[in-house]
Amino acid sequence: MKLKTKDFLTLSELSPKEFLNLIDFSIKLKKTSIKPLLKNKSLTMIFQKPSTRTRVSFEIAMFQLGGHAVNLSSNEMQLSRGESIEDTAKTLSRYTDCIMARVYDHSLLEHLSAHSTVPVINGLSDSFHPCQILADFMTIKERKGKINDLKIAWIGDGNNVCHSMIYGCALSKSSMFIATPKGFEPDKKVVKEGSNHTEIVVTNDPKFAVSDADVVVSDTFTSIHNRDLKRKKQFLPKYQVNQTLMENAKSDSIFMHCLPAKREEEVTSSVIDGSQSVVWDEAENRLHTQKALLASLIRA
Ligand code: CP
Ligand code: NVA
Repeated sequence: MKLKTKDFLTLSELSPKEFLNLIDFSIKLKKTSIKPLLKNKSLTMIFQKPSTRTRVSFEIAMFQLGGHAVNLSSNEMQLSRGESIEDTAKTLSRYTDCIMARVYDHSLLEHLSAHSTVPVINGLSDSFHPCQILADFMTIKERKGKINDLKIAWIGDGNNVCHSMIYGCALSKSSMFIATPKGFEPDKKVVKEGSNHTEIVVTNDPKFAVSDADVVVSDTFTSIHNRDLKRKKQFLPKYQVNQTLMENAKSDSIFMHCLPAKREEEVTSSVIDGSQSVVWDEAENRLHTQKALLASLIRA
């Protein structure tokens, strides 16, 4: 399958059908033996921030598809000495078939996309993390047999992953209940866009959000871009996902976390290492969904 969009920056580029097809394609790729769908193609990866999963899963994805990945830390590039995004995008487009970038400011990705002739993939920005949500909905489909008509509870910070989860819920038509402390709610514009397609509820009450949920999701209280390391005090103990909170969700609910996690902060060890946790499938599925994404974006 080929996607209509050139780039993958927020998830809102996809139609509901493309989203579902990408997930089904990922599940198929997970089951089939390795196919060289991107023989001799290349991906260039730019990292302004640290990464374990994104870096390794993209590199292995290109290897398994018969292509090659080049990894660049932005501070080793001429970007760090003042070369413009425009000139970087134009240069890389002459060498590579796709660019994946993990950045602070989301507008840098838009800039890259505007000046590159090859697809640009968001490998996480301060505002969104769409690749994570592809893997999350693949995991939900594997566990629940569907991605629609579910109740998804987000507990903690209304951050970049939360924003992409809102778009994922909008595409899948599952409802999303988001519980954050006051002042940590997701961006109102993203909530409004999501609400045009599905039920998005923002509350300060984690117990209410988790009540009868099919899926409970958390993420660190302090993201890479957050400067204030004391902010976690505003989340604890109320917004920690622990066994007591999980008891309010459906008995067959699953727990998800994009990782890396801070055990005993946003989630207890008993939940993340417990029987309802699917975090290792979620991490593995980054590989399969990114293979599907790369094969669907990169032109022959
Ligand atoms: N979930 C995720 O994106 O992990 P990394 O920061 O390790 O890439
Ligand atoms: N919200 C986290 C996700 C890490 C994968 C961050 O931006 O640091």
